[in-house]
Amino acid sequence: MQTLKAVDLQAQYRAIQSEIDEAVARVLSSGQYLLGAETGQFEAEFSTFCGAAHAVAVGSGTDAIQLALRACEIGPGDEVITVAHTAVACIAAIELSGASPILVDIDPRTFTIDPQQIETVIGPRTRAILPVHLYGCPADLEPILEIAQRHNLRVIEDCSQAHGARYHGQPVGSLGHLATFSFYPTKNLGAMGDGGAVIANDASLNERLRKLRQYGWRERNYSDIKGINSRMDEIQAAILRVKLSHLEEWTERRRTLASLYSTGLTRCGISLPVEPVESRHVYHQYVIRHAQRDDLRAHLAARGIQTQVHYPVPVHLQPAYRGLPLPPGGLPASECAAREVLSLPIRPEMSVADVERVCEEIGAFASGQALPSIGLIPS
Ligand SMILES: Cc1ncc(COP(=O)(O)O)c(C=O)c1O
Repeated sequence: MQTLKAVDLQAQYRAIQSEIDEAVARVLSSGQYLLGAETGQFEAEFSTFCGAAHAVAVGSGTDAIQLALRACEIGPGDEVITVAHTAVACIAAIELSGASPILVDIDPRTFTIDPQQIETVIGPRTRAILPVHLYGCPADLEPILEIAQRHNLRVIEDCSQAHGARYHGQPVGSLGHLATFSFYPTKNLGAMGDGGAVIANDASLNERLRKLRQYGWRERNYSDIKGINSRMDEIQAAILRVKLSHLEEWTERRRTLASLYSTGLTRCGISLPVEPVESRHVYHQYVIRHAQRDDLRAHLAARGIQTQVHYPVPVHLQPAYRGLPLPPGGLPASECAAREVLSLPIRPEMSVADVERVCEEIGAFASGQALPSIGLIPS
């Protein structure tokens, strides 16, 4: 039985090996290893891809969020509204900026921030909203931007899982005041190491971000403001340029695989991902829900199908973040999602037969589940 992997970075490398090897060799012989010509080219290409004026390449997606907040002069004493059903990095990054995360619940259909809950937690210290386009599905930005405008708040889109997604036809990352991306290796656009970027339309924010990522330097050894070291390295930039040229084709493949899953799983009685009419979902993950998630996961594992859980524990229930304030009704949708979500394998290198295999096994689990209840009917 061949294992169907949830993640297979070697398969992606094999598919474009000659291009990657050539790009790495070019950097090695250039003698320039940080924030050089490749980074500049990547920033130009990626900002065009996002439909925005500027892209500032940084060391990671976590740094991107931290620096985006700092660029907006958000820090100690300020509050930033986000969700608990996300990568813990979002909360860590807000705290790294010195600000406090304020959590609200998600829309259980899309797993993204529920705009209706935002105003219930806005107070005098609120400075920004950080919607996360989770799994590749854009958050509902229109009401979020409208609330932000009324309360004079910044919107920083976290696009770490949504490279190439669109909302009302516009690329995510071009709609808020700033947007952040991670290029963690497993992302739809992934480096072969760490990397991230902040997208800006505003020239002064762009300038501030460029200083913040390197000790606040205006020029070498002259710091205008306090910054950190979050430089992108040239090898990652060169690799990202190669992968960016394949991203649209990979995204279309993800969307095809997702649609095959959705057709194949229709009659299994399982809750499937939705693509809101105004959005283009890029299926960083294909996430189903099931009340017996752990049993289903074990069933698939026993048949050589790897799955993942994004995320098993919402941030407010993690030991490190237990003290975070919660809204009066708590975060029931986030807690329920953590119990039920299951990410099925979805990689551009997968075949139609791979998807069929997963659908068949889920179908077998679903029909097998019905059997005990038949047996329990009293005769
Ligand atoms: C939604 C989200 N935000 C932020 C991050 C942080 O990115 P990085 O791991 O590059 O710091 C990630 C990646 O794990 C993520 O998925």
